[in-house]
Amino acid sequence: MIQTEDMEFAPRIITPENTQEDSDTEISLRPQNLHEYIGQDKVKENLAIYIEAAKRRSEPLDHVLLYGPPGLGKTTLSAIIAHELGVNLRVTTGPAIEKPGDLVSLLTSLSDNDVLFIDEIHRLSRAVEEILYPALEDRVIDIIIGKGPSARSIRMDLKPFTLIGATTRAGQLSAPLRDRFGVIQRLELYTREQLTDIVRRSAMILGIPCETDGASEIAGRARGTPRIANRLLKRVRDFADVMGNGQITKEIASIALSRLDIDELGLDSLDRRMLEMIIKGYSGGPVGLETLASAINEESVTLEDICEPFLMQLGFLGRTPRGRVATRLAYEHLGYAPPEKNEKTDDGQLSFEQ
Ligand code: ADE
Repeated sequence: MIQTEDMEFAPRIITPENTQEDSDTEISLRPQNLHEYIGQDKVKENLAIYIEAAKRRSEPLDHVLLYGPPGLGKTTLSAIIAHELGVNLRVTTGPAIEKPGDLVSLLTSLSDNDVLFIDEIHRLSRAVEEILYPALEDRVIDIIIGKGPSARSIRMDLKPFTLIGATTRAGQLSAPLRDRFGVIQRLELYTREQLTDIVRRSAMILGIPCETDGASEIAGRARGTPRIANRLLKRVRDFADVMGNGQITKEIASIALSRLDIDELGLDSLDRRMLEMIIKGYSGGPVGLETLASAINEESVTLEDICEPFLMQLGFLGRTPRGRVATRLAYEHLGYAPPEKNEKTDDGQLSFEQ
């Protein structure tokens, strides 16, 4: 259902987190190999070398940590890595591995050189993490048998395997865990051109007629995130079917996205509420993240993980040791006059008098 009223507190169509509807289509849209995967060129180039080297030596790929904002394709990339290596992929998440025994059964069920993908790896419990250290370093696990004074520890060898960990918060990973990844890659937000290619590719797979200008309009409002771009494509298609002849044009895309309360730069009502609170409630900032989050009745992690990377990429938000500040560009975009006492610096940021 398309919601056009009271979007203020409605579920956000542009949250990058995965939904069931996303998962269903993402599987059909998922590129199968590195060649089909659009964007993240540096990561792709590096991975291609490491994969080729591992294959030539008939060894498992070194453990890989992928980090960056949600919705950028960490799971997709892991499936591609396993596919390119010609091995099986096991997918799980940090919170799903509740007990050390859960991890032990996962690890012991892998075949030679398989890939184990753990999403949200920063949410593993300490007890589970402890099992992981020797597994990653020496390919062994220590299992405690029995209880109390008669308890014994036995060591079990594991088959060679690759762990791919994914996280939106690399800073929350413990140092011993982070140090055990040989390959650490950061995924970046996508450019409008890359997202246009992704929308066109998805439209073709889903059989949706889509003009390049229409794809570009969707791409420009997808806040650098393929998952959002693909979701918007499906919503815009509804408008194209009902209001037009089914073809996604620039005009239809623009009308549909405005109706979804997503502005021409991709900001939604939460982004605007956040910036407006900094500008109107705190005179442009600086204001601490927690204060800001409670002022607009949102979770601070939502602001930090979802709004901030995008608003900073647009140059609308600055992070200073004393808190968040709205930039001149943010004032202008929201139609406010920037305060005069602040001077403009080269990058369009406002410099605040201390
Ligand atoms: N669909 C989602 N992400 C993609 C990507 N990076 N390349 C191609 N298709 C995609």
